[in-house]
Amino acid sequence: MIAKAKWLLLASFVISFQTLWSQSDAYTDKHRPQLHFSPKKGWMNDPNGMVYHNGKYHLFFQHYPDSTVWGPMHWGHAVSADLVHWEELPIALYPDAIGTIFSGSAVIDKNNTAGFGANAIVAVYTSHNHTMEKDGFDKIETQSIAYSLDEGKTWTKYKGNPVLPNPGIRDFRDPKVSWYEPAQKWIMTLATKDHITFYSSSDLKNWKEESKFGKDLGAHGGVWECPDLIPFEVDGKQVWVLIVNLNPGAPNGGSGTQYFTGSFDGSVFTPDDTDTKWLDYGPDNYAGITWSNTGDEKLFIGWMSNWVYANIVPTKNWRSATTVARKLGLTKEVGRYRVVSTPVSALEELKTKEFTTKSKSIKKLDVTAGAGALTGPALLQFNTDELKSFSIELSNTTGEKTVIGYDRTANNYFIDRSQSGKTGFHKDFANIATAPRLSSAKNADITLVIDNASVELFADNGLSVMTAIFFPESDYTNVSIHSADKLKIKELSFKHLKRIWK
Ligand code: FRU
Repeated sequence: MIAKAKWLLLASFVISFQTLWSQSDAYTDKHRPQLHFSPKKGWMNDPNGMVYHNGKYHLFFQHYPDSTVWGPMHWGHAVSADLVHWEELPIALYPDAIGTIFSGSAVIDKNNTAGFGANAIVAVYTSHNHTMEKDGFDKIETQSIAYSLDEGKTWTKYKGNPVLPNPGIRDFRDPKVSWYEPAQKWIMTLATKDHITFYSSSDLKNWKEESKFGKDLGAHGGVWECPDLIPFEVDGKQVWVLIVNLNPGAPNGGSGTQYFTGSFDGSVFTPDDTDTKWLDYGPDNYAGITWSNTGDEKLFIGWMSNWVYANIVPTKNWRSATTVARKLGLTKEVGRYRVVSTPVSALEELKTKEFTTKSKSIKKLDVTAGAGALTGPALLQFNTDELKSFSIELSNTTGEKTVIGYDRTANNYFIDRSQSGKTGFHKDFANIATAPRLSSAKNADITLVIDNASVELFADNGLSVMTAIFFPESDYTNVSIHSADKLKIKELSFKHLKRIWK
């Protein structure tokens, strides 16, 4: 008996040691983001079904656990209390006879409209049927639902699935569902090849087509995917933002996120201008949508990669990460409504050491000489009364560098990763991406979120945003700012941040 107990104790010690080891090992492998969510192993693409519930932010994601390239899609699952620290949980949804589990959203059914139980989490997703696809059929994508009554731990698929059959459109996917209070009904915003189709429902099970939008508006260099529809209050007026992801056809190549601003009456979306607007001009923010059930706060997260090279980036045990979670706002700039994105403030709480300086006219400022070399993630923020051309170099001792900056002549922000490290895995990776400066202000503020395989630029309070990934042979250790025009920095802060993984 005692011998058996001892053996059990030893066995459980070995098991927990192995779990501990493999957990920490999973988050320290080469190029593993230390500030961004990535799956422990296997493939990830779009964030899905983000919903806030009982103090937790749920993040589901397109996941193929058995390989590091895209394959039969599952919904992976992670939770966070602060949108910064993530805990990966067991897979939420597995492929079934109707199909694999493509992108979608989740809602809290407070009024039990579907009859699954009050406050059930209901996931609405696309079932993609690969067998029918191989057999040459067109109607391979339909919309299905599943519910959870235990905080997303276990899921029951609705036996009447699919709830929305395919009308004969090959690309018919990525339902984003939200509650439309004035008419007490659910609205589904669905990507239907080259436009958006809106549907409505009183019970999440029966859907009626309301209207179509966008065939002749916006960017159409590729297929429309992963939409979102969110209201904002600006100067006492309600303005709706319709997010439409597009692949390919983004300004810097491949996949990207455009949006429209306008009004929505529960049935029809009417744009207030015909501009094509982009949420993020960098190459690596795709398929992003917002959390549901967060009230007036609009919180967004994207997939930090690009379909051009996502399947071949040089990571070993896993592929891809999310962007940092961002707070979205809406502002009017030069007569146009514009979405502004800023990193969630919980990031600041990871601060370990801060370096500050002020009132400096610089030709060169070696930030890490004062702040200490980069040993993990960091946040760089500065402002200026007058914006001049500048560049910020993130570099290592072997000369690899990613350069982020502003070109006054072109009035563009840019990220140059042509010498960033490993770039040979795809001919288009070593690029210089640009973003127009949208602000008309003389002064400027700049925020950089730096991780060991990515940088996110938020300029002018988040009016011009760029996200880019990179893969240096050894991690960058130095940060320096350069300006031939002598940029005058009012205040600068550089924060070393803790890694998010325990
Ligand atoms: C966008 C996307 C979605 C689809 C999913 C499949 O990246 O193509 O349209 O649902 O990925 O994984």
